[in-house]
Amino acid sequence: MSCILRPPKVGEPPALSALCFRSKAVWGYDDDFMEACRRELTIEPSELQSTSIAVAENNGGVVGVVQIKVVGNEADLLKLFVEPTTLRRGIGKALFVWAADRAARRGADHLMIEADLDAASFYRRMGAEDCGFAPSGSIAGRMLPRLVKELRSI
Ligand SMILES: CC(C)(COP(=O)(O)OP(=O)(O)OC[C@H]1O[C@@H](n2cnc3c(N)ncnc32)[C@H](O)[C@@H]1OP(=O)(O)O)[C@@H](O)C(=O)NCCC(=O)NCCS
Repeated sequence: MSCILRPPKVGEPPALSALCFRSKAVWGYDDDFMEACRRELTIEPSELQSTSIAVAENNGGVVGVVQIKVVGNEADLLKLFVEPTTLRRGIGKALFVWAADRAARRGADHLMIEADLDAASFYRRMGAEDCGFAPSGSIAGRMLPRLVKELRSI
């Protein structure tokens, strides 16, 4: 599926946050788990300035979003979510490539990822390597795979 990547619009964060919530739910989590994750799945209006975000659009509709934050030589992948009806059509890859490229242009030499358990294989497919585990920011006691994508070759 072809898509264009564009910056987010002012006023768009609530719709993007809703997309993140719908997308995370594809892994079959229950309502309590999803509610516990809501804060982490939210894009605040202030983040339009404090982070880098790209929105994927197909035929005028939003089909995905990615968000990174770069500090010094390290970038963090904060969000990468594809609309559930358009999974496995190359949108996640297009957004990940944008994130890695943007991070490298901003001076990062690696991109850190704390992956949902079910998404870790996607990041490995994108060339990221496992580097341990990190505690979930939403669920006490839950550990998430931590991966790193080296950017020096980009
Ligand atoms: C993970 C996610 C972003 C992948 O997006 P996508 O658009 O479905 O992925 P793509 O179609 O671009 O896939 C790119 C490649 O990764 C592979 N891939 C995609 N999802 C995969 C998965 N869950 N496990 C293993 N491989 C996967 C594809 O087969 C494809 O391989 P190819 O290059 O050999 O053809 C998407 O499944 C998603 O949004 N999931 C729900 C939210 C989520 O968990 N986000 C990540 C938070 S850390």
